[in-house]
Amino acid sequence: MQYKTIKNTAIYSSRLIYGCMRICGDNSIEDKNKGKRAIHSAIEVGYNHFDHADIYGAGQSETLFGEVLKASPKLREEMFITSKAGIRPKSSEMDYAPTRYDFSKQYILESVEGSLKRLGIEQLDMFLLHRPDYLMNVHEVADVFDVLQTSGKVKHFGVSNFKPSQAALLRSAMSMPLVVNQVEINIHNIDTLLNGTLDQCQQHDITPIAWCPLGGVAYPAWGNTFTGIDEKRIETELALQAIKYQCEPWLVILAWILKHPADIFPIIGSTTPARIIAAKHALELQYSREDWYRLLEARNGVSVP
Ligand SMILES: NC(=O)c1ccc[n+]([C@@H]2O[C@H](COP(=O)([O-])OP(=O)(O)OC[C@H]3O[C@@H](n4cnc5c(N)ncnc54)[C@H](OP(=O)(O)O)[C@@H]3O)[C@@H](O)[C@H]2O)c1
Repeated sequence: MQYKTIKNTAIYSSRLIYGCMRICGDNSIEDKNKGKRAIHSAIEVGYNHFDHADIYGAGQSETLFGEVLKASPKLREEMFITSKAGIRPKSSEMDYAPTRYDFSKQYILESVEGSLKRLGIEQLDMFLLHRPDYLMNVHEVADVFDVLQTSGKVKHFGVSNFKPSQAALLRSAMSMPLVVNQVEINIHNIDTLLNGTLDQCQQHDITPIAWCPLGGVAYPAWGNTFTGIDEKRIETELALQAIKYQCEPWLVILAWILKHPADIFPIIGSTTPARIIAAKHALELQYSREDWYRLLEARNGVSVP
């Protein structure tokens, strides 16, 4: 495993973060045991940074992770834990209120308390706003961040799925640095390359974290627009590069993401120990600029102008 400091923090994070969104599977005992084995595999191979959200498994994912920590409390000393909140689900079919975003002070404070309780820890290393709340009042958010930091409940703050303008607006009100923007980056969704997100990250020492890095390769990406012809073209190029780099095709995609100078940290969401372990080989590939562009060309179906 390789490690790198998240800028503006003392978090010396594994270059691959382990994502806990899928660790409860269908909430059966078998799937939860599989999830626990996945967490232990990640720890054994050197992942020290774990990504959560209050809504993963409707809170069950944090609870499961908390059980792992309770059984081996020393693990907490070696790891960094990130969680997110701000997506407020409809509480039941009878609930009049729809699923909505909620960055109000009260909701964020309650959400962080809930995460700490489920995880069985005193402090989150990072707290992220999960998706931009269209009704965000940046002064209220800045205030709640101050309260959470002063009370010792959260060390560092970031966002997820924020556009550059939204991140800039929030930064302008915050008294501490905004340290990460967790965004979707994969071969299907390259918005952050094009919309200024990765430029803003480099300019302001914000670390980009990539969710669903294998979308469009291991499974159809969210809002998939690839045609069968696109998929074939990408698959063919990936297969050629996999032979060249002597690895499985999905590792090429991780190397493609890691190549970007913004120092993107991919989040690995597999629950299969062999894949969790194998992912680190992507860090060792000497991936070339030429192959990066060949894959982009395969994705786009045209060469760059
Ligand atoms: N901020 C946000 O809005 C947001 C949104 C989504 C996710 N996230 C975070 O990002 C993390 C990663 O997302 P993700 O789980 O979608 O990431 P991912 O690593 O791209 O995908 C993992 C999924 O792909 C499957 N998979 C992996 N390698 C495969 C292969 N070679 N062939 C076939 N299937 C393969 C895994 O199955 P197996 O488990 O069977 O190996 C698993 O279902 C999440 O855990 C969460 O922490 C954040």
